[in-house]
Amino acid sequence: MTKSQIRSRIQILSAEIERHNRLYYAEASPEITDYEYDLLVQELQDLQAKHPLVQTPDVLDKVGDDLDKSAKNIPHKQRMASLANAYSIQEVIAWWDKISLELGGRPELCLEPKIDGFGINLFFSSGKFQYATTRGDGAVGEDVSENFLTLPQIPRTISFQNDIEIRGEIYFPIQDFLAMNEARRQNEEKPFANPRNAAAGSIKLKDIALVKDRPLRAFFYTTGYIAGTAPFGSQDELLRWLKDSGFPISDKHYVCVDEDSLIDFCTQMEALRNELDYDIDGVVVKVDNLALHNRLGSTSKSPKWAIAYKFKPDEKETLLKSVDFQVGRTGAITPVAILEPVYISGSTVSRSTLHNFDEIRRLDLHEGDTIRLIKSGEIIPKILAVNFDKRLAGAEPISLPDTCPVCHSPLSREEEAAIEYCSSADCPAQLARSIEHFASRDAMDITGLGTFIVSRFLKEGIIESVADLYGIDFAKVKELERIGEKSAQNLQEAIQKSKDKNFDRVLFALGIRHVGTVTARNLAVHFQTIEALEQATNQELSEVPEVGDIIAKSISDYFANPKNLRLVQELIGQGLKMSYESEQESELLAELSFLVTGSLKSISRKDMESLIISHGGKILSGVSKSLDYLIVGEKPGSKLTKAEKLGTVKIISEDELLTMLERDK
Ligand code: IVH
Repeated sequence: MTKSQIRSRIQILSAEIERHNRLYYAEASPEITDYEYDLLVQELQDLQAKHPLVQTPDVLDKVGDDLDKSAKNIPHKQRMASLANAYSIQEVIAWWDKISLELGGRPELCLEPKIDGFGINLFFSSGKFQYATTRGDGAVGEDVSENFLTLPQIPRTISFQNDIEIRGEIYFPIQDFLAMNEARRQNEEKPFANPRNAAAGSIKLKDIALVKDRPLRAFFYTTGYIAGTAPFGSQDELLRWLKDSGFPISDKHYVCVDEDSLIDFCTQMEALRNELDYDIDGVVVKVDNLALHNRLGSTSKSPKWAIAYKFKPDEKETLLKSVDFQVGRTGAITPVAILEPVYISGSTVSRSTLHNFDEIRRLDLHEGDTIRLIKSGEIIPKILAVNFDKRLAGAEPISLPDTCPVCHSPLSREEEAAIEYCSSADCPAQLARSIEHFASRDAMDITGLGTFIVSRFLKEGIIESVADLYGIDFAKVKELERIGEKSAQNLQEAIQKSKDKNFDRVLFALGIRHVGTVTARNLAVHFQTIEALEQATNQELSEVPEVGDIIAKSISDYFANPKNLRLVQELIGQGLKMSYESEQESELLAELSFLVTGSLKSISRKDMESLIISHGGKILSGVSKSLDYLIVGEKPGSKLTKAEKLGTVKIISEDELLTMLERDK
């Protein structure tokens, strides 16, 4: 790869990772499996390690948490740690050997199913329930007491009078989950990806009346902080104590003394996973005697007295019925496998993306093949391989189109990304997708303008292009069947309101290939106006952080197309913002460049960046010689190490920056 290809790849990966972080942590609605996410991260880390001089956005530093900054947050009295994972029983045995050596004897183990739900922490004081908090970032959780108390069978009082934190997992029973998703689909609401996300989404609902309709349940299995002496000496006793105090616990735990019963328990649990009404994704193996926990201690992330044996992803076989080729807004063609519906890890799967043509070749897919399907993070299905033993005699390979499946224009291939594109500028599928993109949340955020309405509007001739959105005849819309007056009214307001979006959002909304939200903002800040951007040479474009040859070419190609220029003109005519409004407060930070890493205490990262920009500073997305200041929050990642190594970057805290700005007021 050339340097600019590397830079482009890094940018594409970073934008993807950032999007998946948001989907996973903030929206509880992931689109890819944990495994696929790990692959993206791995690729980005490898590229960063091999090319330390290429500036990289710091998506890998972002610490995932479920905290909503607007909610009431309460610090945990003892950290909510996570567990080290083992992916084979051999690894668990190796861990057992290691701690046995350290303890000078083989400790008994308590084995429990690993509940795949949403972690919860309860605090009791003087025997009374005080509050329930989410895991949050491990140190601070979000207060969800009111919603939590809708769960049945939660004791409000316990006989233990000292302060105590009691911990467990909230889950959404699978049968109820399937029924709820079915109802959501019928109401054209987005279904939840899996029971875990449904539990997370439900416990955080703002409207308690809605929570009451969600049949949440919980299991408890451990404690956090305890004042004074604990009323139990082992994990087994702890579970009995929880049960006697009225907390629901999983009845599947087992104290084991030898390897054979360890293996038996893990195998039995793995076989049982499809029969329970809650998802389990492994077995938690804990040293039973609690006194030994203190002796073994913890690493910074997890205790040494426990390990999670993770099951292999559930795997099913099913029939490949056909392959659909879908056209995206940039013309990218994505093949999707249409499958004989099969139930796997919490939902019924009938489609699975194949990403690109190369994937079909790699799998060697033939018509009528039986394929092996997994859902590793219990999220998005993935075809693992073909079961060649079941291939039908004379089956033909899946044929790959050489024209667009919608408009039949020839396809062109972009080698770096291994993607085929429809080459037409007038493809109706591209038009529909680009209108959806224009209206999407990170773009113009026009609520109510989704796939269904867009295709309806195009079909009925209400709109023919993006620009038409601003001149819709709503009298006509109100006459359409199945579109209520109220939703037409809301849509009209949402469209009107979108005109207030700043230039960077408009730029992103245009849907220029490879221009994600970060690049759009960098371009807007750098060029300030659409005219300056339009006239920029490739050389000038490359001066913008993270814009390499591929992105530069994509931008100049976009503005070389008269149709796009016409669209921009029309949008200007409609009053959309085509110059960047920076709300300039001062020039205090002019000529200085900044990068924020880790999580900040008093302000979100985005707000910090806007603050810096409003004082004339520039934001870079990676550590390099041109970086002046690195602002370090909690849990900084590799950026800090890199900056320290370089030695030229000034490393400051969030408070120091705020004081810098304050002092000058
Ligand atoms: S004990 C120090 N027991 O798995 C953490 N955790 O990956 C002690 N989990 O954060 C946790 N079932 O949310 C424990 N039987 C079980 C569990 C369990 C599920 C969750 C829990 C924890 C995560 C670790």
